[in-house]
Parts: sequence; structure tokens; C-alpha cells
Amino acid sequence: MADVLVERIELRDYRSYERAECTLGPSVTVLHGANGSGKTNLLEALGLACTGRSARTRDERELVRVGTKSAAVMLTTTAAGATNRITVTITPGSQRVTRVNGSRVEQVQALEARPLVCLFIPDRLALVKGAPAGRRAHLDAVVGALWPSRRSDRGSYARALTQRNALVASIRAGRAGRDTLAAWNRELATHAIRLRDGRAEATEVLSAPLASRSLELGLEGDVGLQYRTQSQADDADEFTRELEQYTPRDLERGFSTYGPHRDDLVLRHRGRSLRKYGSQGQQRIALLALLFAERDILAAARGTAPLMLLDDVFSELDRNRRERLLTELSSAGQSVITTTDLADLPASSDAGMVSIEIPSGVTPPAHATAEWAA
Ligand SMILES: Nc1ncnc2c1ncn2[C@@H]1O[C@H](COP(=O)(O)OP(=O)(O)OP(=O)(O)O)[C@@H](O)[C@H]1O
Ligand SMILES: [Mg+2]
Repeated sequence: MADVLVERIELRDYRSYERAECTLGPSVTVLHGANGSGKTNLLEALGLACTGRSARTRDERELVRVGTKSAAVMLTTTAAGATNRITVTITPGSQRVTRVNGSRVEQVQALEARPLVCLFIPDRLALVKGAPAGRRAHLDAVVGALWPSRRSDRGSYARALTQRNALVASIRAGRAGRDTLAAWNRELATHAIRLRDGRAEATEVLSAPLASRSLELGLEGDVGLQYRTQSQADDADEFTRELEQYTPRDLERGFSTYGPHRDDLVLRHRGRSLRKYGSQGQQRIALLALLFAERDILAAARGTAPLMLLDDVFSELDRNRRERLLTELSSAGQSVITTTDLADLPASSDAGMVSIEIPSGVTPPAHATAEWAA
């Protein structure tokens, strides 16, 4: 995969922005501005244009500027000498529209025109603190980014699961017989094994970089990652037998109670669950370390470092760690970081850094590196 650089982002009626344009640097870009000026909004928009999802909300109405009906995010990227323009239009109540160079495409996910992304915003702490579903979705995204041929595994399993669930509910209600269940168990098992193996493999390759990244970021004591699955099955046949074993329980409850849709990814610090026992700061550093570990393995597997989007991570790190983090970011790939106070950034790191001030207020002035249109 060729390196993809984001050159420019334009927003229209996106959250607090009426219209804005902003040119990013090829290495580290710093967005600085007061509380509420729109730094996180801009990172969220960058993430959304690259992944097709907001890391903050599933409710599209929140993304559209209050009082308007639709929002648009436009990215100009370059890859292997070619320039592409990705446009995502969000109109709550209607389907999301994604275009590349004017042509409508189905999934921004599948594009070579967009960079891989590692995004840290405070809302993402839900990955450590929240329910397993968020961790499964995140892990599946990592699997898909690492191994593009596995990108469809999550969707394939979800479709098989939906169908088996419908059948189980029908059998329970007396509307269907059990004769087709065996075939659906087999179908589900095939996808379950694939999904589980991809997740387990990604967890395994993440473990070593996670341990070293968290030490580097200053989390003393070992940090580990474990993919927790109920299944002991080695292949689809064994998984089918496991499913059969749980079928009475499924029929009693009316849905599939067994499979990778119940699995979890457990982050541990000194052997204890970070979700249950970790302090706020420890959870934060572990999440940051996880994102850097993902960056490491993505860079190794795909030959290109993902775009790092880091919201307000400097204020809570000591001077030494801030310097290390910035040196690390400057050494490879493209990144966008935010801060309320430029003084939080180590002075030694200025070289090659592009700094953009996000003004508070509705009509931002022109800026050397960012042009804002009212
Ligand atoms: N849909 C929306 N329409 C209009 N304004 C919105 C919308 N969603 C969020 N905002 C506004 O965006 C602003 C917050 O922006 P953002 O979270 O990006 O700030 P920030 O620069 O990251 O601040 P902080 O430094 O406190 O994290 C708030 O003023 C909020 O009211
Ligand atoms: Mg913010």
C-alpha cells in the first residue's frame, strides 16, 4: 500500500463549523485553540472521512451543525502521486453518501484513497471502560486493516448470526421445525472460526508492541492483552458440536447464546483487568499504547504508517514523555495532535511541525497554514 497523505480537510455545517478549510503538514500538525473552539470536532471529522464512522457518536444528528439539515466533510489525499478527493455527506434520516472524485462509492472503508487511521479522543476511553461490543468492533477493524482479505469476516458472521437467531426464535415460537438448524449451525460455525482466529491472531501480534509501548509511555508494570473466547474448538466441525451443545439454551432464550459475538478483549495491567481496576490515567496510557501498538503492526504489515489523530494527550504526560511521544510522531508517518496550550509541547520539537490555531468564534480569520472561509 502506498503512503496516503491527507493534504486538506474541508468542512461544511459539521458540528460547530459552518465552513472551514485546513491544510495539514506532511508530518506533525498541531491544532491549538481554547476549550470549545472545535479541535475534537476537527479530529472526529478527519476520522469519519477516513473510516466512515464517528468515534464519538452513532447519532448522525449530532454531527450536523445545529439548525442545518446536512453536513459534509471533504478530504484531499495523495497516494503514489495521485490526488483523490473523498466527500462524505451526512443527512440524518437519509443514507450517508460517499464519493471519490465525484463518483459515488459504497464504503469508504474499502478505499485505497484513504489512509489507515489510529484515533485517540477521550470518548475512546469507552474502549477500555465500556462494554465488550466496542472492543470487538475495534478489534475487527484492526483485523480488517491488517489483513484486507479478512475485512468481510465480521459482516459474514453477523449475517449468519442474524439468520440463525431468526430461526431459533421461530423454533421457540413453534413457527418452524428444527430440521434446518443443523445447516445453520454449520454455516455459523464456519464464519465463527474465521472471525475468532483473525481476532486471536491480531491480539497475539499486538501483545509485544503493546507491552513495550506502554512501558515507553510510562505505565510501570506489564500490560497484557488477551482475547477471551468461550470456544475451545480447533475447526468448524468442533465448533458445530459446541453449538449443538448450547442449542437447548438457545432455544430456551430464543437467540444464539454462544459464539464470538460474546467474546471480549481484555486489557490487563499487572495481571488485573484495567477496565475493573485501572486508574483513569492508567486506562488512558494503556489506550494510547494500544493505538501505538496498532500503528506499529499496521506499519509493518501494510508498509505504511497510519495517520495518528491524538486529542489532548500531552496535558497529562510529564515533560520527558511528551518529548518521547513527539519525537516518535515526527519520526514516521503523518499525525494531527491537539492542545489548548502550545506551551504543553516540548520546544525542541518545532522542526517540521505545522501549527494551526483554531480560533474561537464564528468567523475565523485567515491563517498562514489554514484558510478559514466564513
Ligand atoms: N451539532 C453541533 N452543532 C453546533 N455546535 C456543535 C455541535 N456539536 C458540537 N458543537 C459545539 O462544538 C463545540 C465543541 O467543540 P470541540 O469539542 O471540538 O471543542 P474542543 O476544541 O475540543 O474543546 P476542549 O479543548 O474543551 O476539548 C462546543 O461549543 C459545542 O457546542
Ligand atoms: Mg476537545
